[in-house]
Amino acid sequence: MDAIGNPYSPGAGSPPPELAGRGALREQLRVALGRIVNGRPAKSVVMVGLRGVGKTVLLDQVKKDAEAAGIYTVRVEAPENRSLPALLAPQVRQVLLRLDRVEVARAATRRAFHALAGFAKALKVKYQDIEVGLDYPPEPGLADNGDLEIDLTSLFEQVGTAAKAADTAVVAFIDELQYVKEQQLGALIAALHRCSQSELPLTMVGAGLPQLRGMAGNAKSYAERLFDFPMIGPLTDAEAELAIVKPARDEGVEYHSQAVKAIISRTKGYPYFLQEWGKHAWDQAPQSPITAADVEAASRSAITALDDSFFRVRFDRLTPKERAYLRAMSDLGPGPHRSGDIAERLQRSVSSFGPLRSSLIIKGMIWSPSHGDTAFTVPLFDEFMKRIMPGDDWET
Ligand SMILES: Nc1ncnc2c1ncn2[C@@H]1O[C@H](COP(=O)(O)OP(=O)(O)OP(=O)(O)O)[C@@H](O)[C@H]1O
Ligand SMILES: [Mg+2]
Repeated sequence: MDAIGNPYSPGAGSPPPELAGRGALREQLRVALGRIVNGRPAKSVVMVGLRGVGKTVLLDQVKKDAEAAGIYTVRVEAPENRSLPALLAPQVRQVLLRLDRVEVARAATRRAFHALAGFAKALKVKYQDIEVGLDYPPEPGLADNGDLEIDLTSLFEQVGTAAKAADTAVVAFIDELQYVKEQQLGALIAALHRCSQSELPLTMVGAGLPQLRGMAGNAKSYAERLFDFPMIGPLTDAEAELAIVKPARDEGVEYHSQAVKAIISRTKGYPYFLQEWGKHAWDQAPQSPITAADVEAASRSAITALDDSFFRVRFDRLTPKERAYLRAMSDLGPGPHRSGDIAERLQRSVSSFGPLRSSLIIKGMIWSPSHGDTAFTVPLFDEFMKRIMPGDDWET
């Protein structure tokens, strides 16, 4: 059918035509953020899940929901190679410029501007990538110790106080949180902890890979009590059906039930794959209704598209040794696998893979669901590895 009218949207962070199955979590966050505005205790939320499961689009939707409720938001995505203070500083400034327009909050906001100036100046020595416009000079002793944990706490307290004066809340939405270095993550958790103890309306909604939970716990042992870590998973069959059928129906296009079943079974309900299959099924089908045969043809082009983009970008970042390790994993099936079994498949000792495993975890390719286990962070990556590295050359 006409590709111009194709409603599906595969792509990192591309909002889906139908955000299926996330109503309960949106509601949980609406309540939590509403409580924060009212000065009531609520846990910060860090959504964790595999690649392509829909964390970013959910984070953005919750941000929109929060803004509609009058909450002031900050949005950052942690890349692998920039410091957290450098990412936060310009965003904090933007929020302060907005709070500065609220008459009753002006005195508190000005003080927060002074704190931001001290913060940027003192931490610039350690984090040279901090670049932020300064609207007011630093005030000696305010957020200017040069220690990230102390200064971030002090900055957040001032921003939280300004938000309280304006009768709102400031919520920081941080994506790819697993890329924040442990010590910086610890400082962030400590600063949020202080705000929560002081009942200040400043909190965070984070998103990232499943290893985040353990990382947060290592950074600060009390993280478990401060945060909820809801696991964002694949959609149930009914939710996946909605994600596929509704966008087409809105355009006057129907599916045969066998076609929907085929898509659900191929994608296993993973949102990114649902969008990709929906898109290709639409493009392949000559007319409505979309049939199982259309889906069969779509499966081939969808897999090619994924191999060239979603999977490929991850594969390209791997060293030959890392590739061999992941190939050995995929040889054992979808996983999770015992680390000992993977090592055995490569005929080497488990301990010799220590550094390689760490590097794969840092790159966000694998994680450890429980002690001694290793799993892919990218759904269906095992099948991709077998397609891209057929044969057995990798074993040598
Ligand atoms: N609830 C949903 N229903 C239908 N489609 C969805 C849903 N959530 C996400 N998608 C689609 O899935 C794809 C991936 O979404 P998103 O980029 O948010 O995933 P992610 O978890 O952030 O992935 P990554 O870990 O790679 O950053 C997008 O094309 C999006 O439109
Ligand atoms: Mg994302």
